[in-house]
Amino acid sequence: MQQPFSMYNIIRNKRDHQELTQEEIQWVIQAIGKGEAADYQLSALLMAIYLNGMTEKETQYLTDAMLASGEILDCPSHLYIDKHSTGGVGDKTSFIIAPIAAACGVKVPMIAGRGLGHTGGTVDKIEAVKGYKTDISMEEFVKLVAKNGIAMIGQTAEIAPADKKLYSLRDVTATVSSIPLITASIMSKKLASGLNGIVMDIKTGNGAFMTEFSEAQKLAKSIRDTGNRFHKNMMTVITDMSQPLGHAIGNAIEIIECVECLKGKGPQDLMEISLYLSGGMIYLAGIAKTHQEGIEMAKSSIKDGSALAKFKTMIFNQNGDDSFIDDYSLLPHTECSTNSIATRSGYISVTNCKAFGIHCVTLGGGRAKTSDKIDFAVGIYLHKKIGDFVNAGDIIATIYHHAGQQSIANEIATAISRQDITLSDNMPEQQKLILETSVKLVDGK
Ligand code: URA
Repeated sequence: MQQPFSMYNIIRNKRDHQELTQEEIQWVIQAIGKGEAADYQLSALLMAIYLNGMTEKETQYLTDAMLASGEILDCPSHLYIDKHSTGGVGDKTSFIIAPIAAACGVKVPMIAGRGLGHTGGTVDKIEAVKGYKTDISMEEFVKLVAKNGIAMIGQTAEIAPADKKLYSLRDVTATVSSIPLITASIMSKKLASGLNGIVMDIKTGNGAFMTEFSEAQKLAKSIRDTGNRFHKNMMTVITDMSQPLGHAIGNAIEIIECVECLKGKGPQDLMEISLYLSGGMIYLAGIAKTHQEGIEMAKSSIKDGSALAKFKTMIFNQNGDDSFIDDYSLLPHTECSTNSIATRSGYISVTNCKAFGIHCVTLGGGRAKTSDKIDFAVGIYLHKKIGDFVNAGDIIATIYHHAGQQSIANEIATAISRQDITLSDNMPEQQKLILETSVKLVDGK
């Protein structure tokens, strides 16, 4: 006889490597919706999934159930394209890419996430801007995208609410780096937000959830297949995350770095990836005939200031005070800073990228538990990157912290110079930032 569904039985089945049925998965997601799933049991189930994986079918059922947990917006036209990243350290590209794409005619309905594990979150970063509302109504969100081509909000109670719950539990239970969980989390949100196509930035390297390239390839395929199953145009791009992207790691300081990019003064790696991904969005929208043409259009939007203007419009429309764009001191900032100094001369050859994310969480720039409040002001500015030569005594990084955090800052400064960065006598081989791109169009454009 079929046993009645219960969290206990479903956890046990997954623990014992049984394939969960569509009904079991739907039952769990519906229990979340009704507020009947206890956090400790959901956490146990997440861990069982993390350890034992999910089949392709289970991943489909989970994505579908999470998608159905909330509203699904219509996609008004082929111009509706979004970009999402699996998450990394200093990964702030959304604030550059979305305005570029919008300036080129793409409609970007961006529903973004909060920090996860050692990686920062788009929503946490933009909330560093005074007054900016990430929780506007769905109606307002839809209107803003239609009118201005851009809006950026956090997860709402309407869109994939089951993901909101699971995301916050995964963040604090070390269950993030799982292909089925990442696929279902990202795609349930994206498929619900009324899109015709998605550019997915899949990070790989020691600062990413998928540390191995082969795992990143599997995740890329899982995401692409899910998108295509829903008739979405998909571009997956696997990019390097073996060192932080750009120089800034934190919330307010990452926003500053993005504004610098939009002003045409950003760091090379951050610009390269932002132009590449936004060019992909312009291409998927059918505005450019090729990806390369999309990249050229993206470059023009930086040169002529239209991307910066879109960013400003977005901030203004969502109640943010946009005056920080001309005066960064209006953003939250700390009263103290401590430098991390090179102990010897040499080329920076390796960075422990994840450690930088963890340092930022330790300072309060991310969450160690779901109830933690984000400190927008703290962060780390990495002056030197892989391939740079440093002399003994040079500043490698600056830690921005509060007066009461001096001993933590000292520890971080020492960890950066002694453990997180490797200095060698020979210049390391140049690393590629963009490692693999796959495009799968479903509507023949
Ligand atoms: N981003 C998401 O939205 N979900 C994940 O699981 C990882 C990155």
